[in-house]
Amino acid sequence: MTGFPQHPNYVGLNRPLGEEYDLADLVIEGEVPAEVEGCFFRAVPDPAFPPFMEDAGAILSGDGMISAIRFADGKASFSIRYVETERHRAEAAAGEALFGKYRNPFTDKPGAAGLDRTVANTTPIWHAGRLLLAKEDGRPYRVDPHSLETLGSYDFGGKLKSQTVTAHARIDPESGELFMFGYEADGLASTKLAYFIVDREGNLTREQWFDAPYCSMMHDFAITENYVLFPIYPTSCDLDRLKAEGEHWVHHPDVDSWLGVMPRYGDVSELRWFRGPKGVSCYHMMGAFEDGQGRIHFDQCLSDSNAFPFIREASGIALQQWELNGRLARWTVDYAGGPDAVAETVIGPPGDFPIIPAARQGRSYDHGWMLTMNPEMRGPPVVGGPVGAMFNMLLRLDFAGGPPQALALPPAHSINEPVHVPAARADHEGWLIAVVDRQTGPDDFAHECWIIDAGNVAAGPVARVHIPHRLRPQVHGWWVSAAQLAAAA
Ligand SMILES: [Fe+2]
Repeated sequence: MTGFPQHPNYVGLNRPLGEEYDLADLVIEGEVPAEVEGCFFRAVPDPAFPPFMEDAGAILSGDGMISAIRFADGKASFSIRYVETERHRAEAAAGEALFGKYRNPFTDKPGAAGLDRTVANTTPIWHAGRLLLAKEDGRPYRVDPHSLETLGSYDFGGKLKSQTVTAHARIDPESGELFMFGYEADGLASTKLAYFIVDREGNLTREQWFDAPYCSMMHDFAITENYVLFPIYPTSCDLDRLKAEGEHWVHHPDVDSWLGVMPRYGDVSELRWFRGPKGVSCYHMMGAFEDGQGRIHFDQCLSDSNAFPFIREASGIALQQWELNGRLARWTVDYAGGPDAVAETVIGPPGDFPIIPAARQGRSYDHGWMLTMNPEMRGPPVVGGPVGAMFNMLLRLDFAGGPPQALALPPAHSINEPVHVPAARADHEGWLIAVVDRQTGPDDFAHECWIIDAGNVAAGPVARVHIPHRLRPQVHGWWVSAAQLAAAA
């Protein structure tokens, strides 16, 4: 891939690769556990064409690629393909980039007019036998889970009204329902939010719209057994700024955050808004649940400002990454009574990519996993991703009073978001699977897929799958078991 500028978005681990390929019979050190039968789908942004204008936010606009690491009979294989979005196809036909700045169509070339701008590069979501590639700026694309062929933009059989669907969906483990939302649901800088429910067969059964307190970057949300929770953080969009070819997002340190709560099968008129601290920001929630006293707890990887350096820079915020006061924060509210503000408790360290077992979604959990920076690491982290530094430590947090466990990666290593694979045995916590990068030279990297005992992360991987090809950083992944794949065949 040539012609890309010498900018952090395009060098080192972030260097565009732009290759579709398949690798069979990967070399494995150790033994793949019997339960690891299925596919680890990963969303990998990878810009196919060099940008034609300066855009710090372009790190979020890389064309979506769908990668599959398949495990069968103790063996592993690897595949990766572009998601053939309308945008990717148009640029491939033109042989050049047509779309300008991140989420700003006023910067596009004429050839992009009227085309779907999404790059479908954030999360592979599996539900009702369908694989969807989602990004919050548009509707998802459906991809064949076996061939990785793109089947087209997906609107739930014509039922979806929202123009956007976020990349973070929540599936109720008992009902099998998929809970989703979209923001800027009717266009750029809009305050309109769409909240919708898809039943276990994949039918969109209900879509409701309401207004957020302001247009906010709402990357993720949460459900409990009876409620749905919409967090609002003051990273906001302004239409006039877009028209002036400015940035989509600016962060506002002096503006309140909010948590909207409503019964999950209720009407949006039942939304209650709880005020949170000013200026905070979060990308991902670990989970949410109700306790025996009727209180709702909402656990999130919170920081005092937006975690993306290019958004802080566009906002005139001079804070460095280590000055953000990152923490795993629990906001507690009482929907039926109590004050109109959240009560915050710190329950974990700074970090991101929080995970709980899928079976605990919306329920209380006594442990979870997340990625962080090793505070005792000697030497710099691996440079890459949207923050400019990759995580180098995996944590298992125990919320039942036990000590945390950590898997500290060696120097020059980084770890991408793991997926959790449940175990067959009730007394085993299952497995975490993650791609690990190792920097071997100024612009050289080696990659492995590690399988880790989820209840004993400090022991390191039980199996290491070598991937003999350069990889770009992944955003999110999804584990789909062999049984789920077979049922969808
Ligand atoms: Fe995300």
